[in-house]
Amino acid sequence: MPTAIISTFCLSLMVKLCSSVCLHDSVQQDTHVVSPPNVIPHTTRIIRRSTTWTPQLPLRVTPWYLPGESALLKPSQNTQLQSAMREVIKIISNMLSVHRSEGPLLLNRDMNKYCHFVWGDPSLLNYRRCGSQDASYHGERCLDVVIPDSHLYGYEVWPMNGTEPDHIIPDGTGVPSTDFLLYVRVAQTEKCALQPSVIAYASYCQLDHLGRPIAGVIVFCPNRLRDGVYQHQHLVQVCLHEILHALGFSSSLFEHWIDCSFEGHVCSSRSRVTNTDERGQLRIYTPKVMQRMGEHLGVGSIGAPLENQESPTSSHWEARIMQGSILTASLSPPHLTSLDPITLAAFQDMGWYGVNTSIINHLVWGKGAGVHFGLPSTCQVRLSGFFCRDEGDIGCHHLHLDKGNCSTDEFMDGCHIYKPLLHGGECWLKQETPGLDEVYHPQSRCFFSNLTKEMKREKVKGRCYLHRCLAPNNFQIKVQGSEWTDCPAGEWIEVKGFEGLLLCPDGRLCLGFDRPPVPTSVSTVTPFFSTFPQTTSPGIRVQLSTLVNVKWSTDKKNLLAEEVLGVIAQHAGVQRCLLQASTQLDKELSFVLMVGEPNNCRPHPTGSSPHSTILKLIDHPITYESPHFSTITIRFLSLDSHNKSLSQLGLIIGSFGVLCCALLILAVCWCKHRARLLQVRDTNPAQP
Ligand SMILES: *[C@@H]1O[C@H](CO)[C@@H](O)[C@H](O)[C@H]1NC(C)=O
Ligand SMILES: *[C@@H]1O[C@H](CO)[C@@H](O)[C@H](O)[C@H]1NC(C)=O
Ligand SMILES: *[C@@H]1O[C@H](CO)[C@@H](O)[C@H](O)[C@H]1NC(C)=O
Ligand SMILES: *[C@@H]1O[C@H](CO)[C@@H](O)[C@H](O)[C@H]1NC(C)=O
Repeated sequence: MPTAIISTFCLSLMVKLCSSVCLHDSVQQDTHVVSPPNVIPHTTRIIRRSTTWTPQLPLRVTPWYLPGESALLKPSQNTQLQSAMREVIKIISNMLSVHRSEGPLLLNRDMNKYCHFVWGDPSLLNYRRCGSQDASYHGERCLDVVIPDSHLYGYEVWPMNGTEPDHIIPDGTGVPSTDFLLYVRVAQTEKCALQPSVIAYASYCQLDHLGRPIAGVIVFCPNRLRDGVYQHQHLVQVCLHEILHALGFSSSLFEHWIDCSFEGHVCSSRSRVTNTDERGQLRIYTPKVMQRMGEHLGVGSIGAPLENQESPTSSHWEARIMQGSILTASLSPPHLTSLDPITLAAFQDMGWYGVNTSIINHLVWGKGAGVHFGLPSTCQVRLSGFFCRDEGDIGCHHLHLDKGNCSTDEFMDGCHIYKPLLHGGECWLKQETPGLDEVYHPQSRCFFSNLTKEMKREKVKGRCYLHRCLAPNNFQIKVQGSEWTDCPAGEWIEVKGFEGLLLCPDGRLCLGFDRPPVPTSVSTVTPFFSTFPQTTSPGIRVQLSTLVNVKWSTDKKNLLAEEVLGVIAQHAGVQRCLLQASTQLDKELSFVLMVGEPNNCRPHPTGSSPHSTILKLIDHPITYESPHFSTITIRFLSLDSHNKSLSQLGLIIGSFGVLCCALLILAVCWCKHRARLLQVRDTNPAQP
């Protein structure tokens, strides 16, 4: 079984490599696509959108898990798959909106399939109607998935000249609240077996009257669903990549993209989406794409390049120029990949979607690098700060989270880049370091350096050292045993106690996008008020602030809250288990801290109560270096301004050591806090 051997071998590599081949283009070729009747593709010039104006609302993707197939998976794998799907659907509904159609979604049947012949004589009453059912018709499919009749429109068979149909198949009930129906299949298909690095692949199979895909299928290769802390992000990334193809970023759909930028309710087909530039590179030339691509490279508007190693037309961005985009043919690990502005622009130019441009996204690769960036002829010049030359050279991946190995691949046209190392290159992943002065820690990043304590000369390499953010693009570094040292972006610096130099990267660190991945296991962490025993102590509002913006998913908020509670406990000298957040972190990153006496916690040593200890922290913000979120400042707020002055007073008197006065004032605070806390609770009725 040579295939089996190869796939097991590659499988063990895959999780580390995290790069997957994308089968979308070849799968799409095998997918029969059905459009509504009366839509003649490619010839329509003007398309009516609708007669009544409707607002664009978030795109609702409904996953349809095929019954029975979940039996192929372990329960943990099912959970994993469904939680990845949920996350992707959330990302997409945040990103895209559509003019929704009324009623449940119904899919079309292909008349060429169900109908044996159509009345063709214009003098007939039933001209162009189906005259006879095809005996071999067995319903519709979406790739290999049989579409349930309940999801399909019905059809009628008519006599030559009668006024009643001979035969009626009624409409199905449809799928409610759905703008895109996604059949989810889990199967060890031939494609899974042949391509050992493929985790999932997807295609669309139905279009609406504007050409927008309304149904598709995603197939998961069950052998590739594995356990592991970082596997969730990996699965989310692959799913998102594939679904973005099925929603419109597909070479077979480029000619369906429409221009709806006119006044009124009409759209027109785009005359040309792709074209070849003077160097033979195929590019997408639509208005927003050209504008964003130009802004990214720091030039005027310019078409965005498609992968030239996939013929004839690729559904991926050119790897040399768009490293780190979610839509390149070979994906980097999830923490090094983003939903980039040029991909978002492409979805704007499709004409079907409203795109949420406030989604935080970035593309670091090639930023401001000019019109000649990433050409096979220019990538050999090391000056660019992006490419490298010497194969096997150990440097840093361009986001500086990981060490990189200078290498190339089938999509790079001979250009070399620092690809994340297969093993042990994650500076952000805490691990023991063999000798050297390196530190692997969530707060570490990769730096080009030849720092050494010995007198011998060292080659400049990628090394992991601690860093901390002072402001965007402004940071300090710490080499084991050294002081924190300023690291001006773009300069080589010396470090006290070491020979050699270290390069401070410019435009890469402390800008909010060099975040190490958050382990998925945090989703099971609930730092929030759940089983915490009711206490009589009033809550304290805790306000967090960070130097740089992070996209606050629930996972990240949970992780942050968990971390902050730990820091507070440490500062106040109270046990962690006494503290709980009564609410989720809100938009402003604040929450109400509760101090309790849960059973599983040793009683607090007598003396000052933990609650009053924490109240003393009011007006003393704690600032600390978070391993996951850069610098965090924790402020403790009284629950209203009147209280604040009281507690300030309390603090002053307290610091004079007049204990009984302090207690009196705390008692006043207690009532105020409590009243306010009740308000806070009232506004959060959903809190269990
Ligand atoms: C747009 O994206 C931002 C950031 O992800 C999100 O907070 C907001 O809810 C989104 N808006 C819509 C309409 O989905
Ligand atoms: C069908 O009916 C129309 C009028 O209803 C008639 O003119 C025509 O001749 C009929 N055709 C045939 C083939 O019977
Ligand atoms: C770097 O990549 C080359 C192949 O391009 C490989 O032979 C070498 O072992 C890799 N080095 C490390 C440290 O991963
Ligand atoms: C470090 O590298 C720089 C630049 O290549 C070189 O000038 C210097 O001599 C090196 N220092 C050591 C200690 O190797």
